[in-house]
Amino acid sequence: MSSQDLNHLNQHFAIASHVRFIEGPGGLVIAEIANTEASASIALQGAHIMTFQPKGQEPVIWLSKFAKFAAGKSIRGGAPVCWPWFGPHATDASLPGHGYARTVMWQVLETRATADGETVLRFGLIDNDSTRAQWPHASSAELTVTVGAALRIELATRNDSPAGFVLGEALHTYFHISDVADMKISGLDGCDFLDKVDGFSRKKQQGPVSIESEVDRVYINVPGDCLIEDQGFGRRIRIASENARSVVVWNPWTEKADKMGDFGPNGHRGMVCVETANALENVVTVAPGETHRMVATYSVEKM
Ligand code: BG6
Repeated sequence: MSSQDLNHLNQHFAIASHVRFIEGPGGLVIAEIANTEASASIALQGAHIMTFQPKGQEPVIWLSKFAKFAAGKSIRGGAPVCWPWFGPHATDASLPGHGYARTVMWQVLETRATADGETVLRFGLIDNDSTRAQWPHASSAELTVTVGAALRIELATRNDSPAGFVLGEALHTYFHISDVADMKISGLDGCDFLDKVDGFSRKKQQGPVSIESEVDRVYINVPGDCLIEDQGFGRRIRIASENARSVVVWNPWTEKADKMGDFGPNGHRGMVCVETANALENVVTVAPGETHRMVATYSVEKM
């Protein structure tokens, strides 16, 4: 990105006491948001929310200290957007896992400040020949992020083609926790899940989720909010969703994290992914002309 482009972005979309655009590590362009309620940062590559911290709180979102910032590479941590499929592609294993939305450029469509002091940013995925080859459906994706005391993320998918298509998606958010041993996740009791660590076998959750080894699960038909109950920080992170039926819970644990090379020593202990998703048997069929909107909202409560 040239300094001229950065100037253009700032001229059109910067708002005093809300948002400005800077060049960040690896040359990535970052929207830096700071308002009376919170601060956040979002890379234009992937419309990737990297940080979110309400005033007076520990960060809500985890970003690896060892994250790599490079064009075309997904950042370890933050809130990667998995779209238009989740996990491996259904029929073509050569296509990238979790789709391509997290590694392509998005454009800023709008920024605004609300009367309540929140900052709203709207991004549109930019198609290119490679994305069209991977996803041969006329469609558009927009991500609208509202930064206030809570963080709201809306992923909108419009079908502009004459036929329906099947969509998989996730807001693959990494949450910052005090220590994995001091937290549990509630809201999933009684839900079926597919256990990726055990060959996708189908199991039923009993009670809250505690993590003491690698966990990689897709919970399906989840009825309501999930809560990360963090004894160490004395807080709960509430994860509310709309039009999302799956929740993915992931922690790679020691060995896998070490192999990935961008977690750092014991990095996995300070994070858990609780992903708002439509995945596996919860994938969505989007009809011609329809816009499907999946929303996740993260807020913090005292314990
Ligand atoms: C999770 C998947 O959502 O994402 C895991 O369930 C996967 O299987 C993880 O390992 C991280 O994926 P990636 O591609 O960002 O390393």
